Amino acid sequence: MPKTTSTRKSGKGSEELRKAILVLHGPNLNLLGSREPQHYGLATLEDINQALKTRGEACGVSVDSFQSNHEGQLIDRIQQAKRDGVDFILINPAGFTHTSVALRDAMAATGIPFVEVHLSNVHNREPFRRHSYFSDLALGVIAGLGSQGYELALEFALRHLHVKVASHGSQKTEKTH
Ligand code: DQA
Repeated sequence: MPKTTSTRKSGKGSEELRKAILVLHGPNLNLLGSREPQHYGLATLEDINQALKTRGEACGVSVDSFQSNHEGQLIDRIQQAKRDGVDFILINPAGFTHTSVALRDAMAATGIPFVEVHLSNVHNREPFRRHSYFSDLALGVIAGLGSQGYELALEFALRHLHVKVASHGSQKTEKTH
C-alpha cells in the first residue's frame, strides 16, 4: 500500500495532539491535470494535495492525502484512519461514489465526520452520477467547484474542528481552464 504519514503530535516533544485531517482520492484521480480537463480542470493531484497540506500547516493541522485505484486499499486506509485517531476526512470517492457499498460501509463503521467532494458537477452529467452511496452519511457535499472544492471543504473541516484558522495571505493554488 502506498505510504502515508501521520503527524499526531505537536512539536517540542509535547504530547498534545494535533488535529489530523485525511484526504482520500478514489480511482483515476491520479490522472488529474490530463484527465478530461473539461470536467476535472488542470490542477494535478499533487497541486491539490500540496495546497491542502500547506493550508493545514498554516493552521497547525496535519493534512495527509491518499489516492488509490483499488477499493480494498481505500477501505484499509479508512480503517487505519480510525486506529490513528484521524479527526476528519475529505473524500472524493470518484467512480466508487456511484457503486461502492463496501466503501460506504467503511466510512459508516469509522464514524469519522466527512465531507464528500467532487470536482465536476455530478448533477449535470450522466444520470448514473447523480446517485452517491456517501451523501446521506456526509456532513456536506461539494460538487462542481473544481479543485477549489477541496479547499472549501478543508476550511469547513477546520472550523468544524474548532481550529484557530490562519488568515489566507497571498496563497494562490487554483489553476483554471
Ligand atoms: C468525480 C465524479 C465521478 O462521477 C467520477 O467517476 C470521478 C470524479 C469528480 O470529482 O467529479 O472519477 O468524483
